[in-house]
Amino acid sequence: MKTEESLMYMRNWILFLTIALTTCVDGADTPELGQPASEADIEQVFWSVFPDGENLPAGSGLAVDGKALFNIYCIACHGIEGAGLTAVALVGGQGSLATDTPLKTIGSYRPYAPTIFKYIRRSMPYIAPMSLSNDDYYAVTAYLLELNGILEPGSVVNAETLPKVRMPNRDGFVNAYPKVPRKYDY
Ligand code: HEC
Repeated sequence: MKTEESLMYMRNWILFLTIALTTCVDGADTPELGQPASEADIEQVFWSVFPDGENLPAGSGLAVDGKALFNIYCIACHGIEGAGLTAVALVGGQGSLATDTPLKTIGSYRPYAPTIFKYIRRSMPYIAPMSLSNDDYYAVTAYLLELNGILEPGSVVNAETLPKVRMPNRDGFVNAYPKVPRKYDY
């Protein structure tokens, strides 16, 4: 190696080490913006619910109350007994998915019950998401599952019972990435 070349080589190494060292030092020295999130802060934003029921809130509901709530808050868009109006039907379609006229509803299509609760709480009523109580959301979920014939009349819907509901299309999903380990086996 010529002297000039080896000098350049050495200079590059010094440069690299300087950058590596300053990055490490910088990493340890934070800009001290914000403050650590408290348990209460995390609870406020972490309200998602998982297919196995993880993170379902306390509370419970019955279809009889869900029907009354539905007729106030949901019927204008989803129609009588969820048959569909300006917004999608929420009832029916079971057995239709493989036909020429598939009707995808929460009853015919969705693989898990806890995430139906999650969806409704997160996004409905369309103009005022998360505006009802957890009990109310459990109740409308119970009503819709009963209308779909998935729950027996009078079933109590809560964090314990909802994950046990077996949805008709539970096995209708395939994993598009079979080599990637997944928490849920669809
Ligand atoms: C102002 C109209 C409106 C109201 C009121 C409303 N929804 Fe919806 N809902 C919609 C629309 C629009 C969609 C479709 C949203 C999308 O696909 O992005 C929807 C989607 C849904 C879905 C998902 C359907 C599926 O198969 O994917 C459910 C479940 C649902 N609504 C339940 C309810 C419940 C329960 C209430 C009352 C608490 C309610 N909605 C009130 C307009 C409404």
